[in-house]
Amino acid sequence: MMERIRIPRIMQETSKRILLKSKSIGFVPTMGALHEGHMSLIKRARTENDVVVASIFVNPLQFGANEDLQSYPRTLERDIEKLEEAQTDILFLPEEQAIYPEGFCTYVSVEGLSERLCGAFRKGHFTGVTTVVCKLLNLVKPTRLYLGQKDYQQMQIIKKMTEHLNMDIDIVGCRTIRESDGLAMSSRNSYLTPKERQAATVIYRTLSALSELIVKEAIPCIEVPALMQKLISEEPLVDHIQYAGIYDAESLTPLKEYKKINLLAVALKLGQTRLIDNMLVELKC
Ligand code: PAF
Repeated sequence: MMERIRIPRIMQETSKRILLKSKSIGFVPTMGALHEGHMSLIKRARTENDVVVASIFVNPLQFGANEDLQSYPRTLERDIEKLEEAQTDILFLPEEQAIYPEGFCTYVSVEGLSERLCGAFRKGHFTGVTTVVCKLLNLVKPTRLYLGQKDYQQMQIIKKMTEHLNMDIDIVGCRTIRESDGLAMSSRNSYLTPKERQAATVIYRTLSALSELIVKEAIPCIEVPALMQKLISEEPLVDHIQYAGIYDAESLTPLKEYKKINLLAVALKLGQTRLIDNMLVELKC
C-alpha cells in the first residue's frame, strides 16, 4: 500500500528514518497528470532503489502570469492508481501553503543557463523550478533524483544546482518517451485539438530529419537553425516558433560548429499550446 504524506516535516522525518536504515531513496518529482514518461522514471527508480518516492505538486512559482496554472491538468485519482500499480512506496502531496508559507522570500536561481532557450520566453520559470526542487530535495532527501530528457534544460539546470550547492544526490537523466508517431509525451499534449495533435508530429519529424543530415555530414552546423525553422514552418498550424536550433549540450548556447555531442532543441506554439522537444546528436569526431 502506497503511503501518502502531506506534511513537509513528516516527509522529512520519514526520509531520515529510511536513510538511518541505510536504505536508498529514488525520487521522481512531478506536477501530476502522469503519463508514460513519468511512469518510466518511476519504473527506473523502482529497479535502482530500496524506497521510491514520487511527489505531486503543481508549483505556482514556475508559472508566469499569463500561463496555464489554473488550467493545468489535474488527475489526482488516476495518478494515484498509476503510482500504486508501479509500486511507488510514498506519494508526497504537499499543500501550497506548506511549501510557500506566508512571508516566503527565499529563491534558488542558476544564473545563465536559466535565461537561455525556454528561459528567454518564460521569465522566472526556472527560478520557480529550482526553488521548489531544492525544497523537495531537502524534504525527500533522495539518494537518486530521476528526471526526463524531454525537459533537457530543466535537467541541466537542476544538475548545476545540485553541483553548486554540494547536494549529494545522483541525477539520473532518462530518455524521452514518445507516442507511436514520435510526439514526446507531455501533460500539456492534452490541450491539443485533434488537428493540432496531428500537426505536432512536425516537431519529431524535423528533429529526426536534422539529426540524420548531421550524422551523414550532409549539412554545415551554421545552416541547421534555418533549415529547422523552414521545415517546422511548412506546418500551417504552427503559430510561432520561439526557438529552433543547435546548441552546446552543456552551456545551451547556439553552436556555429559541431561538437561531439550536439543538442537540437525546439519550442513552438500550436494554437494556445506551447510544446518543447529536443534530441541529442552524437558525432564520432
Ligand atoms: O518537470 C516538472 O514536472 C516540474 O518542473 C518539476 C520538476 C516537478 C518541478 O515542479
